[in-house]
Amino acid sequence: MFLRGIELLRREGISYKEYPYSIPTIAHLSRVEFRGNVTFLVGENGSGKSTLLEGIADQCGFHTAGGSKHNRYEVDAAESALGEHLRLSWLPKITNGFFLRAETFYQFASHLNTMPESLRYYGGRSLHKQSHGEAFLSLFVHRFGKKAIYLLDEPEAALSPARQLSLLRIIKELEHEAQFIIATHSPILLGYPDAQILNFDSAPIEEIRYEDTLHYVLTRRFLENRAAVLREVFENDE
Ligand SMILES: Nc1ncnc2c1ncn2[C@@H]1O[C@H](COP(=O)(O)OP(=O)(O)OP(=O)(O)O)[C@@H](O)[C@H]1O
Ligand SMILES: [Mg+2]
Repeated sequence: MFLRGIELLRREGISYKEYPYSIPTIAHLSRVEFRGNVTFLVGENGSGKSTLLEGIADQCGFHTAGGSKHNRYEVDAAESALGEHLRLSWLPKITNGFFLRAETFYQFASHLNTMPESLRYYGGRSLHKQSHGEAFLSLFVHRFGKKAIYLLDEPEAALSPARQLSLLRIIKELEHEAQFIIATHSPILLGYPDAQILNFDSAPIEEIRYEDTLHYVLTRRFLENRAAVLREVFENDE
């Protein structure tokens, strides 16, 4: 393990009406301890997962639009509003790693095309010439290594269920030598064995069991009784 925890430095004069302190999970954040190499951030849309992950990426020195410490490129609104308020505790400190976010992956792929020598780290082929999911998995297969921290924001956005299972296998292969913090809505990814799951639906953030996540409960109910769930959803819509 490398990143042991994060702490919010609550400066004077911050406004709880403005982003990012307007988000309840951030307003109530004091300290988060990571207890293993695989941590998931889970919670409703808008609950603050990306905000926190981006702040961590910022403090790791990674480009907050996605990439590692070597990637510098321009993307709109990629500044982290939270980063400078976070203190990270490391043991040992590492600087290798990667921040991946689905929304800016396209710009990241374009940025890589300007550095052909680095394409060998991504399967030797421009990420634009691979499908969204292929490019994502290329990145995981070729770029992920040891002694590193990987911050992934909804990696499932591009991945079929089968490829999500491939990602689980990649994480398993690296788990003892790399750390992963992953914001996700995927009930498949969340099922990784013995992972720490942090729930952003409560403020302050607290740990939750896999089977208690809304993602697990709703997906399970839907798959087990699709007709009943659909009936409820359509009736409530009227
Ligand atoms: N740059 C910004 N300026 C102002 N508000 C923002 C900014 N970025 C996000 N927000 C707001 O902060 C809240 C949390 O956003 P965030 O992206 O962290 O949520 P999330 O948990 O990652 O959601 P999702 O599951 O949809 O990705 C949202 O209400 C969002 O509208
Ligand atoms: Mg998000």
